[in-house]
Amino acid sequence: MRMLCAVRRLGGSTLGKIILTGDRPTGRLHVGHYVGSLRRRVELQNSGEYDKIYIMIADAQALTDNADNPEKVRQNIIEVALDYLSCGLDPSKSTLFIQSQVPQLCELTTYYMNLVTVSRLQRNPTVKSEIQMRNFEASIPVGFFTYPISQASDITAFQATTVPAGEDQMPMVEQTREIVHKFNSVYGETLTMPQILLPDNQACMRLPGIDGKAKMSKSLGNCIYLSDEPEEVRKKIMSMYTDPDHIRVQDPGKIEGNTVFTYLDAFCKPEHFERYWPEYANLDELKAHYQRGGLGDVKVKKFLNNVLQEELEPIRQRRKELQKDIPAIYEILKEGSAKAREVAAQTLHDVRDAMKINYFDDVDLIASQSEKFRQD
Ligand code: TRP
Repeated sequence: MRMLCAVRRLGGSTLGKIILTGDRPTGRLHVGHYVGSLRRRVELQNSGEYDKIYIMIADAQALTDNADNPEKVRQNIIEVALDYLSCGLDPSKSTLFIQSQVPQLCELTTYYMNLVTVSRLQRNPTVKSEIQMRNFEASIPVGFFTYPISQASDITAFQATTVPAGEDQMPMVEQTREIVHKFNSVYGETLTMPQILLPDNQACMRLPGIDGKAKMSKSLGNCIYLSDEPEEVRKKIMSMYTDPDHIRVQDPGKIEGNTVFTYLDAFCKPEHFERYWPEYANLDELKAHYQRGGLGDVKVKKFLNNVLQEELEPIRQRRKELQKDIPAIYEILKEGSAKAREVAAQTLHDVRDAMKINYFDDVDLIASQSEKFRQD
């Protein structure tokens, strides 16, 4: 019996552990992106455990709900690239590229569209909530509606095994898995089954905005950006939503839904206490005191400010360096996009073979057709 999937191959070479992930360039990246995925990507990159890492700036996907604002997308390509590099993504280890520069992704999308039903797309929870958020109900752009299929192309074009991303991307990876399953069962083993890699900490899964609202978003003005100056970060932390019933210092305070503590859960390590607040050994002790009463919000916010500034400062410094040579950043993206095109073209070649639309490469086809018409 044939061993299924024991060795995955692309164009004759063996594949290993492969990462693909990315972000829409609709704004600078914020600390929610950082704890949700970016920090992890850098760790995975430096772990040496992955054979290939592809990080994509999803401009084509950004255009699915910003069709009338291409300038916004264009401006934010470089912002996202700067954020990536300043967080430690390294172009010698990870391929950074721009989605629209890989036309093979569009062709894959066209073929995958035959494998997905309209009702399945309508049930995609992320698409559902985005349609609501954007008031698209009566006039959903087709391109927006089908972006989960295009996302399946992004992932499968690189034969990714692993997609490090936030919880909101779960339905996308699930939909991709269904497409892979369907494709492979109809056309034969061709595509790699990907898996999402979620943050391991609940606070990182969905970091709230500074106003305590579920999601950080530019339009709500509740984000702390990776590139914010120290004073902006401090002001935002000082204005953070805490426990509205914690009025006097001596009152007992609530931790649940308290944004300052959620951020501490996402960022704080025991060594931060040694450095900035040695009265407590760790976050549990601090939480216990807050819950008992007798600890004011301002003190906790100041501590969070120390923790966050320590994490963001090196990122800010690297960004300032990188900003001095913008043409070099475009060059990195250009080279990455060329490399991405090559890999995607190889997958597309295999997909075309599997789908029997490789007429001119198939000597057997031409021979058998000749035979058939000779007999007629
Ligand atoms: N949907 C992602 C976002 O909103 C961006 C994205 C596009 C992506 N294609 C992807 C993420 C493939 C992971 C894998 O930011």
